[in-house]
Amino acid sequence: MVCLGNICRSPLAEGILKSKLPINRFIVDSAGTANYHVGSHPDKRSIAVGKKYGIDISNLKGRQFSIQDFDDFDYIYVMDESNYENVISLARNQNDENKVKFILNEVYPNQNFDVPDPYYVGEQGFENVYKMLDEACTIIADSLV
Ligand code: 4NP
Repeated sequence: MVCLGNICRSPLAEGILKSKLPINRFIVDSAGTANYHVGSHPDKRSIAVGKKYGIDISNLKGRQFSIQDFDDFDYIYVMDESNYENVISLARNQNDENKVKFILNEVYPNQNFDVPDPYYVGEQGFENVYKMLDEACTIIADSLV
């Protein structure tokens, strides 16, 4: 799960998808394309909306996306178009590129919709992000198990 800062959207996506998969069979992780928040816990508003729905992301820590992630993961879900461009720019070959998917394309195929960055928005923005990610992660989990 990849966003810009790895403190708002992608940690929530990580927590939500983990909650829907058998943890002994899958590795789910998140990262940011930027390095501003490496080592930071998620934004308190993401922690709060997760907690509201029974998902604890308070112990996660930000890290930056790296080329190694193309080798370590089968699927790389990005939150928005700018994340997509940033991740694709690091791809070494077609196989890497094929792993990169807009997460909302799980719900709205081929539309390339963004999960809007809630960082400068209020709590309602985080609630909206939660609902979008929950819907997408339900479909992802159903396709994997
Ligand atoms: P995220 O949100 O990409 O969903 O983690 C953001 C968090 C921090 C910043 C931007 C977006 N920032 O500019 O610090």
